[in-house]
Amino acid sequence: MSKTSTNILRQGEAQRITLTLNGRERSGHCEPRELLSDFLRHELGATGTHVGCEHGVCGACTVHIDGVAARSCLMLAVQVQGRRVDTVEGLAPDQTLGDLQQAFQRHHALQCGFCTAGILMSCADYLQRVPDPSEGQVREMLSGHICRCTGYTPIVKAVLDVAACRNGRVRSEQGREVEHA
Ligand code: FES
Ligand code: FES
Repeated sequence: MSKTSTNILRQGEAQRITLTLNGRERSGHCEPRELLSDFLRHELGATGTHVGCEHGVCGACTVHIDGVAARSCLMLAVQVQGRRVDTVEGLAPDQTLGDLQQAFQRHHALQCGFCTAGILMSCADYLQRVPDPSEGQVREMLSGHICRCTGYTPIVKAVLDVAACRNGRVRSEQGREVEHA
């Protein structure tokens, strides 16, 4: 038996995981096979992260791992040991909605809301990397998410609205951009 065998994770053996969740150090226990999405919801109580398909298709479970959007149903909880994880709860840490959430509210970009947490986390990451996207780029980014309610158009408008505001422009009610005075 090799010296490294003591590091092997054994089925059914609880592992203690410590991570930074939305800026706070948190710890919990999980089995080696436990999905990150289940660990966040059931062990850490971060139920803002939703679980739909559980195989990487719907995007509902999207969180940030070290600042990058990722499907939490495609990761194991043990993979986030010592890492930074941000969930939708982190977008409003003091119960004040961020600009992205306010834009979703303004544009009626959600109905049942099941997809919303994941979409918000993808949009938050995307706008960091692509601060002023075209409508086509936003639609392409959203193609990684399934929403059964809104028809996507209000979501696209909300994302473009945020980009316009952050870049010193505002959008009219009709979605037409106008420059700040
Ligand atoms: S629940 Fe993770 S992608 Fe659908
Ligand atoms: S708002 Fe219902 S699934 Fe998107």
